[in-house]
Amino acid sequence: MDLFRLMYTSRISAASGPACVPDIVRVSRARNLRTDITGLLVFDGLRFCQYIEGDSAEVLALSARIAADPRHIDFTVLSSGPFSGERRFSSWSMAYAWTEDGNLLEDLAQWRDTDAFTHFDALLPTCDMEP
Ligand SMILES: Cc1cc2nc3c(=O)[nH]c(=O)nc-3n(C[C@H](O)[C@H](O)[C@H](O)COP(=O)(O)O)c2cc1C
Repeated sequence: MDLFRLMYTSRISAASGPACVPDIVRVSRARNLRTDITGLLVFDGLRFCQYIEGDSAEVLALSARIAADPRHIDFTVLSSGPFSGERRFSSWSMAYAWTEDGNLLEDLAQWRDTDAFTHFDALLPTCDMEP
């Protein structure tokens, strides 16, 4: 399989609000299992950051669907491209992490390419992983 990864940030739309997040996570987990996509969604009450990895065609199709989802706005790809080796989140069809620190995702949104992945890795230990 040609592995491909993509990371973006976005902001929840005013019309949706945080109440839609459990539904997003539930549907994502079920759908990603079927398409063999793994990854992590981080939410701070306002901003999302999501990392998705899997077959390149599946990841690109999913990112187009997510980008068009009206529950969030300002969809901005920070980094995307093929990679080799192990998946980063091999045992999660979509892990979910919450942070109360509103600055973390705002700061992350400034970075691109490898720097974005480096900063993403650095913020993970500060987030609360939720089942
Ligand atoms: C922040 C955010 C993250 C999402 N992540 C995923 C995901 O990882 N997998 C997924 O299938 N859908 C995800 N969705 C939902 C998709 O946008 C879409 O609603 C869902 O895949 C169902 O698509 P369909 O109605 O065309 O079947 C996400 C939506 C948002 C707003």
